[in-house]
Amino acid sequence: MTELRHFLSLSDAGGEAIAAILNDAQDRKAARAGWPKGRADADRPLDGYVLAMIFEKNSTRTRVSFDLAMRQLGGSAIILDTASSQLGRGESVGDTARVLSRFSDAIMIRTNDHSKAEELAAAASVPVINGLTDLSHPCQILADMLTLIERKGKLAGSKWAWFGDGNNVCNSLVEAASLMFFDVTVACPEGFEPDMDMLKAAAARGRSVPIVRDAAVAAAGADVIATDTWTSMGQSDSDNRAKVMAPYAVNEAMMARAGEDALFMHCLPAHRGEEVTDAVIDGPQSAAWDEAENRLHAQKSLLLWCLGKL
Ligand code: CP
Ligand code: NVA
Repeated sequence: MTELRHFLSLSDAGGEAIAAILNDAQDRKAARAGWPKGRADADRPLDGYVLAMIFEKNSTRTRVSFDLAMRQLGGSAIILDTASSQLGRGESVGDTARVLSRFSDAIMIRTNDHSKAEELAAAASVPVINGLTDLSHPCQILADMLTLIERKGKLAGSKWAWFGDGNNVCNSLVEAASLMFFDVTVACPEGFEPDMDMLKAAAARGRSVPIVRDAAVAAAGADVIATDTWTSMGQSDSDNRAKVMAPYAVNEAMMARAGEDALFMHCLPAHRGEEVTDAVIDGPQSAAWDEAENRLHAQKSLLLWCLGKL
C-alpha cells in the first residue's frame, strides 16, 4: 500500500508539495472567479469523494470552508461533533478512525490534544487533516501564505512579525517559515513563546526564529504583522493573559512602524479592542477577509494533494 498523505503538520507535506498546493490554489481560484459559490469546478476532480469532519471544538471558517471545498471539487462532506457522536460517550479515537475510513475518503479533525489527531491518523486507512489542535493550525497558515502571495507576489524572503501569544497558529507559522524560506519574528511576553520543539525544528532547517519582548522591534520593516486571540479555545486565565499581552496589541501606531505597505493578518475570530483595534482590522492594510476566503482555496488544493491528485 502506498503511504497515506496525512496533513497533521506542514512538514508532513514539505516545501515542494506546499508550493504545488499554493500554485494550484491560485489557478483554481482564478478559473472560477465570479461563479456562484456552490457550483463545482469544471473538472470535478473529487467527484463522488466524501470528507468526514470531526469537531471537538467550535468552528465557523474551518467547517464552512472544508464543506464548500468538497462541494466545489465535486464531492461532499459529513460533519460530526463530540456532543452528538459516540466519541462523546467514550468510543475510542482508533475505532472511530477505522469506521470513518470505511465511510469516507479523507478525515479532518479539530481537537484539543494534538496526540488525538496523531492517534486518529495512526488508525485510519484514509488521509487525516489537522483542522486545528492545541499544537498547530497548518490549514490556516496555508491560507495565510496564499494571501501573502496574492498581495505581494512572493513568499520567499518576506518578513513576518507575530504579536501576542505564541500559540497553535504561531507554531504553524514558525514551521512554514522554515519550509518556505521566509522570516518570522515573534513578539510575546515571557512564558508565552511558541512551542520549543517547533522552534528547534525550524532552527535545524536553518531558520531561527527570534523571540523579542519589544513589539516595536518586531514591527519595524515587517511585510506582515499577524496576531490572534490572547486566549485560545480551551485555555483559561484570560484576565492575566490580557494583562501581559496588552503591549502586543496591534494598533495603527504599530502598523505605522511596519510601513504603509505592510499587511495585517488575523486568522479570526478577532477580539476587537483586545489583540487588534477596529481601525486596523477594518483598515486598508487588513488582509483578514482574504485570509478567511483563502481557507477555501488553499484547502481544495490540500485535499487534492492528500488524495494523490496533485
Ligand atoms: N480561523 C479559523 O480556524 O476559524 P474557525 O475557528 O472559525 O474555524
Ligand atoms: N488560537 C485560536 C485559533 C482559532 C482559529 C484557538 O485555538 O482558539
